[in-house]
Amino acid sequence: MTTLQEAERLDAGDELAGFRDRFVPITDPGVVAYLDGNSLGRPLRATAERLREVVAEQWGARLIRSWDERWLALPERIGDELGRVALGAAPGQTIVADSTSVCLYKVLRAAVALRPGRDEIVTDTANFPTDRFLVESVAAELGKTVRWLDTVADVGAVTGDRTAAVVLSHVDYRSAEIADLPGITRLVQERGGLAIWDLCHSVGALPVELDAAGADFAVGCTYKFLNAGPGAPAFLYVNARHHAEFGQPITGWMGAADTFAMAEHYVPAPGIRRALSGTPPVLGMVGVQEGVALLAEAGIERVRAKAVALGRWVIDLADAWLVPLGFTVASPREDDRRGGHVTLRHPDAERLSRLLIENGVLIDFRRPDGIRVGLSPLTTGFAEVRAAMARIRELAA
Ligand SMILES: Cc1ncc(COP(=O)(O)O)c(C=O)c1O
Repeated sequence: MTTLQEAERLDAGDELAGFRDRFVPITDPGVVAYLDGNSLGRPLRATAERLREVVAEQWGARLIRSWDERWLALPERIGDELGRVALGAAPGQTIVADSTSVCLYKVLRAAVALRPGRDEIVTDTANFPTDRFLVESVAAELGKTVRWLDTVADVGAVTGDRTAAVVLSHVDYRSAEIADLPGITRLVQERGGLAIWDLCHSVGALPVELDAAGADFAVGCTYKFLNAGPGAPAFLYVNARHHAEFGQPITGWMGAADTFAMAEHYVPAPGIRRALSGTPPVLGMVGVQEGVALLAEAGIERVRAKAVALGRWVIDLADAWLVPLGFTVASPREDDRRGGHVTLRHPDAERLSRLLIENGVLIDFRRPDGIRVGLSPLTTGFAEVRAAMARIRELAA
């Protein structure tokens, strides 16, 4: 069923539909559909209000006193809440800091140092560029070897007693395939290695259970499904059992045991705070706080259920309208293997993507031939998706 009535029926039954009003409206009449929330989530109205308040009151009125009154504690406070709402992480293990890339550098360096007799770092050739680049540079820096996986499923064949760390994405940024986080973590650990998960495409889109999986380390961004805003800080998770030995390479004063002691030498803070380096980005954290609060209200289970329904809707429409025009569905068709987006492949995807964007369908092009349809359960509607798919059909035809 691909009718407008079906789209309207799905929208009418959508328990999360009301959350759309919590976002800044799209005022550009040329936008048919925003299907790129998995690159940049839409802004919350509350974030705009809170930013004004923080500037006027906390910064403008309280001035430097705000550091002690509230700002210094924010990286851990927001980290704990994010851990509770989206990561299945008990307090004291998640902290908001830096970009995903910098967080990944820190945890990868720390992980490799925790396995001194081992000389290999494993990642997959389809991993996101920042992950691959950092694995290569950390390997070069420490004299280690990179073991490349052609598919994540090969991880068992490649890991062994030389593996120090394995770096994988929980949800593949191109295909949306969900990796078996608990199973792979267990396997890597059984072989004596450490698993590092990039959660950029899963945090806020599907439940992640880091503590239950016994995960070692994880990193992720907040500007996609958490709607925290462009350049909002990322987060990192370090399982409590690693805290005592966790030594990250960017040993700035904010991660020191006593930041204002102006000590002669660096002594790391106890617990997750040692993962910090420099001054926390207070304005950027406002968006993280609001995004996490909204997710807590919506509930990650309901968000996941809608992501699945939206994905199925895209696939149904693609099968009916686009497959006959030469498209293929490149994301898993099984709901439990697919994250929060659907990638469609077409030989002319690059040109088509340009045309789509010019025509108000804001999707992502991913080399070599992927059109990535991003589905943000708190903002995307079923009729919106149908309108976009109709436009893709028109332009492709
Ligand atoms: C899987 C993945 N990892 C890392 C990043 C980039 O992280 P950052 O720019 O926060 O360093 C992205 C950005 O889209 C991503 O999709």
